[in-house]
Amino acid sequence: MTYLLALDQGTSSSRSIVFDRSGRIAAQAQLELPQIYPRPGWVEHDAREIWRTQLATARQALAQAGIQAGEVRAIGITNQRETTLVWNRKTGAPIHHAIVWQDRRAEPACAQLREQGHEALIQGKTGLRIDAYFSATKLQWLLANVPGARAAAEAGELAFGTIDSWLIWQLTGGRRHVTDVSNASRTMLFNVHDNRWDDELLALLDIPRALMPEVLPSASLAFGATDAALLGGAIPIAGVAGDQQSALFGQACFSAGMAKNTYGTGCFMLMHTGGQFQQSENGLLTTSAAQTTGVPEYAMEGSVFVGGAVVQWLRDGLHAIRASSEVQQLAESVPDSGGVMMVPAFTGLGAPYWQPEARGTITGLTRGSTLAHIARAALESIAYQSAALLAAMSRDAVAAGGAPVSELRVDGGACVNDLLMQFQADLLGIPVVRPACVETTALGAAYLAGLASGVYASTEELSSLWRAERRFVPTMAREQAQALMNRWEHAVAQATLDCT
Ligand code: G3P
Repeated sequence: MTYLLALDQGTSSSRSIVFDRSGRIAAQAQLELPQIYPRPGWVEHDAREIWRTQLATARQALAQAGIQAGEVRAIGITNQRETTLVWNRKTGAPIHHAIVWQDRRAEPACAQLREQGHEALIQGKTGLRIDAYFSATKLQWLLANVPGARAAAEAGELAFGTIDSWLIWQLTGGRRHVTDVSNASRTMLFNVHDNRWDDELLALLDIPRALMPEVLPSASLAFGATDAALLGGAIPIAGVAGDQQSALFGQACFSAGMAKNTYGTGCFMLMHTGGQFQQSENGLLTTSAAQTTGVPEYAMEGSVFVGGAVVQWLRDGLHAIRASSEVQQLAESVPDSGGVMMVPAFTGLGAPYWQPEARGTITGLTRGSTLAHIARAALESIAYQSAALLAAMSRDAVAAGGAPVSELRVDGGACVNDLLMQFQADLLGIPVVRPACVETTALGAAYLAGLASGVYASTEELSSLWRAERRFVPTMAREQAQALMNRWEHAVAQATLDCT
């Protein structure tokens, strides 16, 4: 038997999954990752904990599957993106905790870049808006605030990396300092047109080039091999991609117009745009898709900040349910939301609205409204936000001469909720397709590793392995769906009423 080992290092946990050649799960292990909140708006991870938990789960998964390192053809790595770490090349010691993607401390630096008028330059080269979400200004903060960091960086003593780079450094015993194009494209320092670090941006942000890892395609044997002592033998690392691009790959979305939505704490929607760098007219980001060769491929991306998190709020804030799994039953106890609309703008609204000051709003309450109506409205808000994103994506696709998105592939925790998926299909007016394997993030990394190591011959072969478990076909009349979307937009207007 041939196996592939996927390491999935996420924001809240480290996971490892052993896949067989057909993409079936042979074993999996998971460990929670502690979150560190030093101040309001700051989020950090202990990089040593990231490595410790990741290695432990890899060992557990191999033991559970009952296989030896020699039976694993290759490792694929997928990871939380943008999270920024700097470590000492000689000692391997991090100079500071990793600054997590959610961390907002670099906002003043971003505001300054915007004021100086660099938005068009940065967007044109990287596809990104200037935002503290991305790595560049987090890295700037580390260089400015950790004593001695700038001098050491300029002397070539330090290494910068996103979490993939850190794991590869550890796995190869400090021999390889590398990343892949999809992770590099989230730093705001990477030129996505010619797949290289951009000297003009490095100079603009005053980042020494000596810090930067080598950038490889997402499927490559050049990432290196694991130190034999770690997992009982040397295993090639052959696939690397940021988690959202990895999920796009694991959903077999390889060509322009194919899209996926991951329903997690937030939702991440990505649409492949082929070899075409396309700048959104509708507030979406352009990003590098996972690439199997050195030829650039792109995706458009939009995210919903509060997706599944709205169910946590029902549980922990409103005490409407005791466990998240109860939400479907409560929502289904009423035929519809009874006109109640909820905009869960707890932390503002992302694409396509970009209203950081917006706040959560419930509209349409009557004397007859119950907790069940609010629960249903909360669940439906995930679908409304995703529908607004998909409409923006389709507008961009059509503007670029393509066709609107014709089906949406789904994954992530909340995609098991049938009520939500059916409502999503009804709003969108296109089929929503749930695959047999919803672990698509890890599967994407395994596929990339399998391609580079010769387990699979081509992406066509991977497309033939992808299987739908259920297709949710729209049943609602389009006029009714449009009327609901209009009500949603009205509720969004209420949520942004106080925004200047
Ligand atoms: O851009 C952030 C994203 O990569 C984080 O994903 O699944 O770790 O929350 P996740």
